[in-house]
Amino acid sequence: ILGYGFRDGLPVPINLTIGMYNKTWQFHRDMPPTPVFVYGQSSDTATFPGPTIVARQNVPLFVTWENHLPDTHILPWDPTVDTAKPNTTGVPTVVHLHGGAMPPEFDGSAFAWFTADFRERGPAWRQATYWYPNVQAPGNLWYHDHALGLTRENLLAGLLAAYVIEKPDLETPMNLPCDPHDLYLVIADRRFYSNGSIFMNSTGVAPSVHPQWQPEYFGEVMTVNGKAWPFVNVQRRRYRLRILNASNARYLSITLSLSNSSGSAGLPFHVIGSDSSYLLNPVTVSKLVLSPAEIFDVIVDFSVLPPETEIEMLNSAPYPFPNGNNQTNSTLDGKVMKFVVKALNGTLDNDMPDKSKVPEHGVPYASVTAVPLPTMTRIITLFEHFNNESQTTLLDINRLSLHDKATETPKSGTTELWQVINLTGDNHPLHLHLASFQAVKMQQLNDSDTFTNCMLENNNTITCNLDKHAIGPELPVPEHEKAWKNVVKLPPAYVTTVLVAFRLVETNQPYPFDVTTYPGYVYHCHILDHEDNAMIRPLIMT
Ligand code: C2O
Ligand code: CU
Repeated sequence: ILGYGFRDGLPVPINLTIGMYNKTWQFHRDMPPTPVFVYGQSSDTATFPGPTIVARQNVPLFVTWENHLPDTHILPWDPTVDTAKPNTTGVPTVVHLHGGAMPPEFDGSAFAWFTADFRERGPAWRQATYWYPNVQAPGNLWYHDHALGLTRENLLAGLLAAYVIEKPDLETPMNLPCDPHDLYLVIADRRFYSNGSIFMNSTGVAPSVHPQWQPEYFGEVMTVNGKAWPFVNVQRRRYRLRILNASNARYLSITLSLSNSSGSAGLPFHVIGSDSSYLLNPVTVSKLVLSPAEIFDVIVDFSVLPPETEIEMLNSAPYPFPNGNNQTNSTLDGKVMKFVVKALNGTLDNDMPDKSKVPEHGVPYASVTAVPLPTMTRIITLFEHFNNESQTTLLDINRLSLHDKATETPKSGTTELWQVINLTGDNHPLHLHLASFQAVKMQQLNDSDTFTNCMLENNNTITCNLDKHAIGPELPVPEHEKAWKNVVKLPPAYVTTVLVAFRLVETNQPYPFDVTTYPGYVYHCHILDHEDNAMIRPLIMT
């Protein structure tokens, strides 16, 4: 023992109370105000998206989440999907810190929901105050609702917000653009009624089974930080943009294009991070594809443009992605926001020279080759099948539901290979709670119809000869997606091999529930309409 030495700084935990409120929100100056459910420290200060929480690595944060929502939801709510059902009135809610590492009772389990004033509580409800230890590497996270079967409505109504973990001694030397040249952009599509309220379908694809459930929600109005098609004035300097696709189901394929310039190259994105981690080395791209819940942290250099240049962030992703029939409209969902370049004092920014740079190296996380070797390989299959009896399309993982016994029970501190087989026609964003992961291989299925039919009948990769079918062309994992991510895009008719690193955060009290009943963690598709019905499975850390 070295003696006390007063070596470590005194951690001062931070306590916050954040409530959920029903108020109206002005998405566009020419639109009537919109009823929303939003997070805030009071009804007056609650916003769409909610307040950004900026945490320090290793400084614990305690948040007391309060539900001040009314007796009934502002959006239709399908009681026939597997959903939280209070006995009386009220809107079930529970908050999940997406990308966060915390003990299971603070993960925001779908079963830990509660209604206003904790009047009713789901079976896994434990406490009003959540502990976020912030022990993980610095990066971009977000928090959002996760109530069983109504996550899509609760996010659509506005229960979502950004969360950042900082580690200044690691990040300051990188010289990244900082406040006010560091903007978190939360992009979300919405559809509105002419009276201003948010449209959510109240009819389903199969009236007899799920009368109000549709497989994907798409809106033609693009909102960024709670404004429809906003603009922002920027100086001739570098900016850091943390771009989150908070849409329920819409993928984005975004570029920065000079206004009124047909087809000119536009500005590149210098990608420095994705989801809750930095890249080992920044990568420059002209286009970014973001699935729902995916985050890219980029630097954009506006100094190369003359003052008054206007740059539009455009979106060209078809929907459903990537093979859907719907193309974006160049005056609606094809446009996201506008940047207007301003010079300080009409000249270059000499009063405030830009000392930031695109760093040569990001934060040195362990590379895929430096983590422990995978201890096992799991087969995870995404199914979409038409049920003749109910006349509806059903989605699931491994033909199982959230209530079926957990089959994924990884050991803390280990890595695993997940071979995720996507037998559907669309891309799905795979999200695991607690874990960090990255795609290491994407291989197309050969004769995928035969394989899919066999899997639908047998759900057995040996009987169906996965090895004989996983021989199609490989798709390279994009360089800027080689980060420790928490959302990975799974192309249709591909087997995507994902290297998953698991870590359980130590807590000094045992998990208060039987993990076989309430596993704590989950993994799911982050298209919220799929997550709610029913592409979601339990994940137990041992
Ligand atoms: Cu962003 Cu389980 O969710
Ligand atoms: Cu999905």
